[in-house]
Amino acid sequence: MKIALLGYGKMGKAIEKIAIAKGHEIVYKVNLENAYDFMSVSLHNVDVAIDFSMPSAAVENILKCFEAKVPIIVGTTGWYDQFDLIQEKCLKEGQSMVYSSNFSIGVNIFYKLNKILAKMMSNQEDYDVKIEEVHHTEKKDFPSGTAITLAKQIISEVNQKTEYKGRLIFNENLPAQSVKDHEILIESIRVGDVTGDHKVIYESIIDEIQITHKAKSRYGFAKGAILAAEWIQDKKGLYTMEDILNL
Ligand SMILES: NC(=O)c1ccc[n+]([C@@H]2O[C@H](COP(=O)([O-])OP(=O)(O)OC[C@H]3O[C@@H](n4cnc5c(N)ncnc54)[C@H](O)[C@@H]3O)[C@@H](O)[C@H]2O)c1
Repeated sequence: MKIALLGYGKMGKAIEKIAIAKGHEIVYKVNLENAYDFMSVSLHNVDVAIDFSMPSAAVENILKCFEAKVPIIVGTTGWYDQFDLIQEKCLKEGQSMVYSSNFSIGVNIFYKLNKILAKMMSNQEDYDVKIEEVHHTEKKDFPSGTAITLAKQIISEVNQKTEYKGRLIFNENLPAQSVKDHEILIESIRVGDVTGDHKVIYESIIDEIQITHKAKSRYGFAKGAILAAEWIQDKKGLYTMEDILNL
């Protein structure tokens, strides 16, 4: 495949390594510096674009690929307030797109576990639930896209919860924060160079139940993004990693 990498930062570079090892070719590497010029190139020589850029850039990049009828894999998070617009355009125009708040196979298994656990906890009124996520200090958005997906999954199963509330923490020693009964607290801790840890915690006065996912490196996200790029080649429509992994 001939790949355009939209965003050549930590993730773009991790994807490049795997793509080349699998015999694919990188035809564009786009960063903040050449993003403006990229908007005027034709994408006739591109089989798939992979976007791991910035929340503020993702939508423009998606629209550019739609215009050129190039399938796009979107790993960037923090742009989902415009999701409805992109979904409608993608389906109406017969475009090809895979998006996921997390491309790693492990996190997609974790999502499935989260749904099952939320269903089991939906009538357990003695427990309250919160989410903790830890990432490196360069991360631009909070809560992480993965934490938001986890919260939405819980909201769809647990009647009492209808909203999530994010709290950004650069100092882990801050006092605990309480939220309203209908809210799920998401604590976003930014420290060191942590790739991405997520924890869902159900707590009662008697005990605590936790499920945790820890990414050891960016390799898992990058491998999943390449898998998605290979998978979308002969398809039209809007997909997530769940469709690809068939979990
Ligand atoms: N879905 C997942 O599995 C997953 C995993 C890891 C990270 N992410 C997300 O991917 C995004 C990138 O993560 P990262 O760690 O590589 O960040 P990064 O800061 O290392 O890299 C982002 C790159 O995007 C470039 N950029 C800025 N504007 C651009 C534009 N208009 N067009 C193209 N590129 C542009 C920047 O120059 C930078 O090099 C973030 O939103 C992050 O949350 C998603």
